[in-house]
Amino acid sequence: MQKITLSTFKNYKKNAQKIVAITAYDALMTQIFDEYADMILVGDSLHMSFNASGDTLGISVDAMIYHTQAVCAGARRALIVADMPFGSYYNVDEALKNALRFYTQTRCDALKLEVNADKIGIIESLVKEGFAIMPHIGLKPQSVRAEGGYKVKGKQENEAKELIALAKELESVGAFGILLEGVKKEVAAAITQQVSVPTIGIGSGVDCDGQILVWSDAFGFFSEFKPKFVRHYANGREFVSKAMQRYADDVRAKTFPNDEESY
Ligand code: KIV
Repeated sequence: MQKITLSTFKNYKKNAQKIVAITAYDALMTQIFDEYADMILVGDSLHMSFNASGDTLGISVDAMIYHTQAVCAGARRALIVADMPFGSYYNVDEALKNALRFYTQTRCDALKLEVNADKIGIIESLVKEGFAIMPHIGLKPQSVRAEGGYKVKGKQENEAKELIALAKELESVGAFGILLEGVKKEVAAAITQQVSVPTIGIGSGVDCDGQILVWSDAFGFFSEFKPKFVRHYANGREFVSKAMQRYADDVRAKTFPNDEESY
């Protein structure tokens, strides 16, 4: 089993081989996904899908580090990318301090930060210090309160141009890949064509170099709402719910445990 590295990502792009990415927040799921995924993101989406919070804001660096340690413990093959949470990179010093915590307290391979043009300097400083950085552009969930909702990006020509220019700048300051969320598919395709680093898309069309989904969305565990870009590969919620019901029924009927399950 060959560990996926930044060089693997470069080769995937060169050979037009799609990158398979998914989120994970613990070792158990990571052990299952690791066989198939090239990249596992410890996303701050965990604050919504696992902590039942209304948005991703409010998760701490400590919590993200705890989950990143768990994911790293379960992974052997996939590239592990940790999400830097809201407020942990508002200036260069804070970004360097917190990035260092992720690198020294976990075995993650890279970090992801939600950025706009104002944050190019932060990405540049992190790369110069030796961090592998995947900026996240387009729809940025950490900006949901500031923007008043989740809005698809690149619909207007000027916004499309800005996104393409931003992606090119991020490449020029050393980003090893770029995550595109909620970007119009034509704009995501143009970015993918115009940068030499791989793009990983979510809700950004099929032409990105790779795709990522939040695992609880993809496997039907998160039922609050289903964004248009999510495909359900399983009905996990129903599967677990039925199993839980059978267990509860057995306990109440005193048919669990039986003699063979007892000492
Ligand atoms: O936090 C997360 O899971 C993400 C994905 C939506 C890409 O950033």
